[in-house]
Amino acid sequence: MPNKTIFAISGSLRAGSSNHKVLKFIGTLLPVDISYHIYDGLATIPPFDPGLDNDTPPQPVTALRGAITNADAVIICTPEYAFGIPGQLKNALDWMVSSASFSGKPTALVTASTVGENAHAALLKVLGAIDCDIIEGGTLLIPYIRSKMDAEGNITDSDVESSLKHLTYKLLKAIA
Ligand SMILES: Cc1cc2nc3c(=O)[nH]c(=O)nc-3n(C[C@H](O)[C@H](O)[C@H](O)COP(=O)(O)O)c2cc1C
Repeated sequence: MPNKTIFAISGSLRAGSSNHKVLKFIGTLLPVDISYHIYDGLATIPPFDPGLDNDTPPQPVTALRGAITNADAVIICTPEYAFGIPGQLKNALDWMVSSASFSGKPTALVTASTVGENAHAALLKVLGAIDCDIIEGGTLLIPYIRSKMDAEGNITDSDVESSLKHLTYKLLKAIA
């Protein structure tokens, strides 16, 4: 039976997403006793409405809050869109503000984009606002991600590969 769980969220909804592939690569680095789940419900999260943010929010929101609360750690891997956080990811995080689901949660952030530095910086602020425990060594910005992996999602850039291995090691250490 797995003794720890890591919940992974990709900020890209695109079929064939490089961020999804990065998360899959991280999954290959984990020991067998870690339960690793890549979230596939981001598109189902409704637009954030403070008027619905009560004891009975929409079901996909409740499910996401529960998955985050129950996880030992969370990893977010996202592209940047229009110099910012992808809307659907930001929308989901807005639903997490009042629930405190992320409060104290060991969290890692990978921004894998063409450039990505604006989304990366903005996300660090948002994650701070929702009281994540951003783990030491748990943030990584990967520019030009599409040139650093092949079509199957294998990381072809040795620096990126070792950075992802290091981040995964730090994440595991944070929940050991
Ligand atoms: C509408 C749109 C806007 C984008 N804007 C940015 C941007 O501002 N900065 C950046 O680094 N990449 C930008 N990109 C490029 C994406 O980050 C890049 O395609 C990335 O690989 C997408 O992630 P994915 O492969 O996981 O879907 C944009 C892409 C799209 C489709």
